[in-house]
Amino acid sequence: MTDAMTNAPRKIIIDTDPGQDDAMAILLALASPEEIEVLGITAVAGNVPLALTEVNARKICELAGKPQVKVFAGCDRPLDRALVTAEHVHGQSGLDGPVLPDPTMPLQAQHAVDFIIETLRDAPSGSVTLCALGPLTNLAMALRKAPDIAARIREIVLMGGAYFEVGNITPAAEFNIYVDPHAADIVFKSGIPLVVMSLDVTHKALVTKPRNDAFRAIGNAVGIAAAQMTEFFERFDREKYGSEGAPLHDPCVTAYLIAPQIFTGRHINVEIETKSELTLGMTVADWWGVTDRAPNAMFMGTIDADAYFALLTERLARL
Ligand code: RIB
Ligand code: CA
Repeated sequence: MTDAMTNAPRKIIIDTDPGQDDAMAILLALASPEEIEVLGITAVAGNVPLALTEVNARKICELAGKPQVKVFAGCDRPLDRALVTAEHVHGQSGLDGPVLPDPTMPLQAQHAVDFIIETLRDAPSGSVTLCALGPLTNLAMALRKAPDIAARIREIVLMGGAYFEVGNITPAAEFNIYVDPHAADIVFKSGIPLVVMSLDVTHKALVTKPRNDAFRAIGNAVGIAAAQMTEFFERFDREKYGSEGAPLHDPCVTAYLIAPQIFTGRHINVEIETKSELTLGMTVADWWGVTDRAPNAMFMGTIDADAYFALLTERLARL
C-alpha cells in the first residue's frame, strides 16, 4: 500500500524473530520496493535466541540479494519473564530447511531499540510503520524509553494473538504474545493504531502442497529456499492440527501493506492477560462488543488465501 498522500512506498521497520515464516514476510517486503521501503530490520529473541535471530535476519537479506539492508540486534529476553523459544517448530537454527551461508553483511552496532527511537524521531511524524513479527519486547522497550515516539508512529501491523482459534503455545495464548505479555500489554495500551494478524487469520492461510510446489517452481534460489523453509516449518503444524498444510503466519503482515483488500476484520477492543498463569498472554478480543472498552485494534478475521499465495509467489519470483 503506497502512501495515499504521495504515492510513495510505505516506510517500515520490520521487528522479527526469524523463523521461517518471518523469512517469507521479509522476502515479500524486500521484493516489493514500489509499495514498501524497509528502513531497517530489528531482531528480537523469540522463536530462537537473539544470537540466532539476528544472524537469520542477515541470512535472509543476503538470500534476497539485499546486503545493504541495515540489521540491528535488540532485546535478548522478555521484559519481565524468562525467554520461551520454539526450536520444536523452527529447528535448532530457527531457519531449518534450506542451507543458507553464514552472513557476510555486517550487524549494525546500534541497539535495535535505539534505532527504532532515532528513526521515529528523525522521520516526519506519522510516516513510519512498525511491522512486528515476533514478541513485542523491542517495541515496548522503545515506548518505555521514549514515550514521545508513540504519537509519531503511523501504525503497528503485527502478527500475534488469537480469539476464535484460541492458542498455539498454551490453550489460551498465541506464541508472540505469550513470550512477552507485558510488552504486548504496553503496545495494546499505547493508543497507537494497531492492525492485528491473529491466528484467526493465519490459520486460514495454509501452505498446501500445491502452494509449496508453486514456490519451488519459481526456480530461483529464493523460491527453492521458500519451498524448503515452508516444508520444514509445516511438518510440525500438519501433525499438530492434522490440516493439509501449516499456517503461514508472518507474511500476512507485509502482505497487508501491499494488498489490504485481501483481509477483513473488525475495529474492536483487545486486552492482554498479564496476571493469570493459566491464561497468560491471552488476547481478550471483544469481537461481539459486549464491553464498553474502547476499540484499540483492527483485529483481522479473514483472508483471501489464494490471493495471498499468488502475491507471495509472484513477488518472490522478482528476487
Ligand atoms: O504464533 C506464530 C508466531 O510465533 C509467528 O510469528 C512465528 O514466527 C512465531 O514467532
Ligand atoms: Ca515470527
